[in-house]
Amino acid sequence: MIPAALIEALAEARHVCVLTGAGVSAESGVPTFRDAQDGLWADYNPLELATREGFSRDPALVWRWYRWRRELVAGVVPNAGHTALAELAGMLPRLTLVTQNVDGLHQRAGSADVIEFHGNLFVDRCFDCGRPGDAADEELPRCEACGGLLRPGVVWFGEAIPSDAIDRAFAAAADCEMFLSIGTSALVYPAAGLIDIARENGAVCAEINPDPTEQAASVHFAVAGESGRVLPELLGLLAS
Ligand code: OAD
Repeated sequence: MIPAALIEALAEARHVCVLTGAGVSAESGVPTFRDAQDGLWADYNPLELATREGFSRDPALVWRWYRWRRELVAGVVPNAGHTALAELAGMLPRLTLVTQNVDGLHQRAGSADVIEFHGNLFVDRCFDCGRPGDAADEELPRCEACGGLLRPGVVWFGEAIPSDAIDRAFAAAADCEMFLSIGTSALVYPAAGLIDIARENGAVCAEINPDPTEQAASVHFAVAGESGRVLPELLGLLAS
């Protein structure tokens, strides 16, 4: 299942960079984006809600959707894959965890210093001035500083990745000796481009996903499996 050469590369790496996507949270019960049968997008067009235009058009609808997602995430717990990644950090000289997920489950599993490439579902900030706010349970929460509407602190389509996140993630991808892409369809850039930076800098690249992605042909190891099962197995092999 997991090649010995992958474990050897992991054991020898001075710096490992990990990118996770919605697949890592799937086993906690959080729908992914593109899995048709139960994906978040099965019932609506993401461009209607996860964009500045969608929010301007109907902020109450967007808040209803994000509040539904907040309740869903608040009701689940990290799974064995999250826990394994938190433990892996303590077994390696250096691990940088970059996540596209906004659910905060890596942090709840004990991972520190997580780079949230697409922001965080539970952060509120002003749509107009960008200052942090507290939406509480207001249907249309407003910024105390400028009176603008508050919005969820996630990255929407067409929006820039937070500059500190992109700088730190790019630096880690360029510096690492091993890059693990876990539970992501590798379709959304610039996150999906991190593995290319790593590979161009000589890193050993691997993906963990039940379904091979488009990057499967260009990684050194494509491990077919669910992260909640593969990651604990990987830790056991690394420890032995
Ligand atoms: P996707 O829904 O695009 O892809 C989920 C991936 O997880 C797929 O490749 C599945 O095969 C895989 N998967 C499903 N179950 C899994 C499991 N148990 N273990 C491991 N992998 C599993 O989600 P992302 O790749 O995260 O961006 O999507 C990337 C971005 O697209 C999201 O961050 C979001 C969306 O636009 C923004 O919100 C800006």
